[in-house]
Amino acid sequence: MEKSNIVLIGFMGTGKTSVGKVLSERLGWHFANTDDEIEARQGVTISEMFATIGEAGFRQVESEVIRASLERTNQIVATGGGAVLSEQNRRVMQEKGYVVALTADAKTIIDRVSQDQNRPLVQGNVEERVHTLLEVRKHAYDFADLKIDTSALTLEEIADKIIANWNN
Ligand code: S3P
Repeated sequence: MEKSNIVLIGFMGTGKTSVGKVLSERLGWHFANTDDEIEARQGVTISEMFATIGEAGFRQVESEVIRASLERTNQIVATGGGAVLSEQNRRVMQEKGYVVALTADAKTIIDRVSQDQNRPLVQGNVEERVHTLLEVRKHAYDFADLKIDTSALTLEEIADKIIANWNN
């Protein structure tokens, strides 16, 4: 039986939101971005959350939002890059969805994230932060049902691959 959500995981800047929107249009399914849901729920930005309640506080809210979000069905859910660090989150994702990991090479990630002020974990020396975190999280996305390197693919090509694999 097809699982009734597609869950996108992957490091910051691997294209989860962009791919999720294309998939949502192609399948006619709702698109949910858990980072946006966290901000809407707390009424502050992710950066403000890190500054006030810290990463641990943020992770707690993130887990609650992921659990609530995956109670719904027929949606594409894009998650934050660190959501997979929690075993509970990984279990919920696997139970409630077809889990797709997007990857990209370090240079692509650095180019994509260096424009953004709302990613507290890669502020300062972006290159160094990205390389360190990529190393720490080397195997964090391995539990996915499908893994796709997005570096040289268009959004449409990525969506095609996901739909083709998910249907099999
Ligand atoms: C994080 C990734 C971010 C956001 C937060 C923490 C991480 O989401 O959840 O800044 O730990 O990798 P994106 O992957 O959408 O940038």
